[in-house]
Amino acid sequence: MHHLTSFTPFCPIMQSTSPFPFANLSSELVLLIFAHAARPTFVKTGDNEQQNPYASALSLCRVSKIVRRTVLPELLRTILLPEYNNVTAFVRTLRMQQAFALQENDLRFDYGGRVDRIWFGQICEPPPQAPVHSNFASSTTSELDVDFRLLAPVLLSAPSLALDFESLWLLYGCLESAWNSHIHMNDSECAPPPWRTNNLTLVGEFNRWRPLTSTAEGSAFLASISRLSFLSPTKAETHLLPTYDPCFDDLEHRKYPLPEWMTNVPWDSFKRLRTVSLALPRIVLTVAAKTSLGEENVDVELLTLFDPPHSAYWEPKDISAYTESGEGRIVSVGVRAKLGDSPIQFSVSFDWEEAWARGLLK
Ligand SMILES: *[C@@H]1O[C@H](CO)[C@@H](O)[C@H](O)[C@H]1NC(C)=O
Ligand SMILES: *[C@@H]1O[C@H](CO)[C@@H](O)[C@H](O)[C@H]1NC(C)=O
Ligand SMILES: *[C@@H]1O[C@H](CO)[C@@H](O)[C@H](O)[C@H]1NC(C)=O
Repeated sequence: MHHLTSFTPFCPIMQSTSPFPFANLSSELVLLIFAHAARPTFVKTGDNEQQNPYASALSLCRVSKIVRRTVLPELLRTILLPEYNNVTAFVRTLRMQQAFALQENDLRFDYGGRVDRIWFGQICEPPPQAPVHSNFASSTTSELDVDFRLLAPVLLSAPSLALDFESLWLLYGCLESAWNSHIHMNDSECAPPPWRTNNLTLVGEFNRWRPLTSTAEGSAFLASISRLSFLSPTKAETHLLPTYDPCFDDLEHRKYPLPEWMTNVPWDSFKRLRTVSLALPRIVLTVAAKTSLGEENVDVELLTLFDPPHSAYWEPKDISAYTESGEGRIVSVGVRAKLGDSPIQFSVSFDWEEAWARGLLK
């Protein structure tokens, strides 16, 4: 725990090798230090490539019940669920918490309202279960991997939700579950909707809106979103420059229209939309980057439009037109990317998850 070295001024006689007298600190201070140490590290570099970002928090949770209670909020603030097994593990935790709550166990902890941001990677819907013999039915029902009644209150309580298009089934499932119980408990027509999602980030190239726009809960959900971001495509078209070129004209380079798929977004469903952002599909790379294939920080331009389209019929203009008129703003963000080269095509795939977790994609 290298954080503690900065506290040595408190005890100047101590030799740098002797253990830090932790017990001399007030318990409030100790808990603050634990909370700080528990903050997840989302920067993946070299050695911690495979490391779980929550590793410190998870080991601190084993120190004592009080420490666990202190560090859990840090762990829950940003939840990353990159793969199917991460989602099922998370749902198992929620199921365990449900049991703890019933038993009034000391380990119970209410996750509701603790999660600010939640990310779902590419999580494909499992194929429907083959019809089972009634003899086996009991064993399969208890193994339901994703229980929407448990997942919905957590997923929908996060103000910021990011998910891959492949994972939209999780959102539909949660919305349906929350909406149905909401209607049961509804006492006034103007009860707030059963979600707190404001910022919605969609990742990937898939563009199918019907499942959301065709249901009451899906439409109500879209209507309540105020910031919408698109992180697609994941593979970028590249323009290679021989070296850094000071004469490279940004404006000229941005004289191309917004991507075609944007016209398929049901803009009229977004009643409260204030900004829409997207990662611009054209990436400029220098040959220097190209020759060192592997992992690089690649500059991606994010365009934010302050006056998003309001009707289904909308004609996208050139990107330069939005920036010149002040309707849009571009920021450049360094995103970790894997560069690949085949004889036919040069490709880039971005680690959007890391960039999102680090808060670069605002
Ligand atoms: C997701 O699950 C894998 C394998 O079970 C694990 O190695 C990884 O650390 C998990 N990731 C997160 C962010 O929890
Ligand atoms: C909510 O409850 C009111 C009466 O309290 C009822 O008129 C209304 O239809 C209910 N709304 C829904 C969506 O069920
Ligand atoms: C939602 O987006 C806005 C603007 O991009 C940002 O300032 C805010 O922090 C985001 N909220 C969360 C919970 O990430």
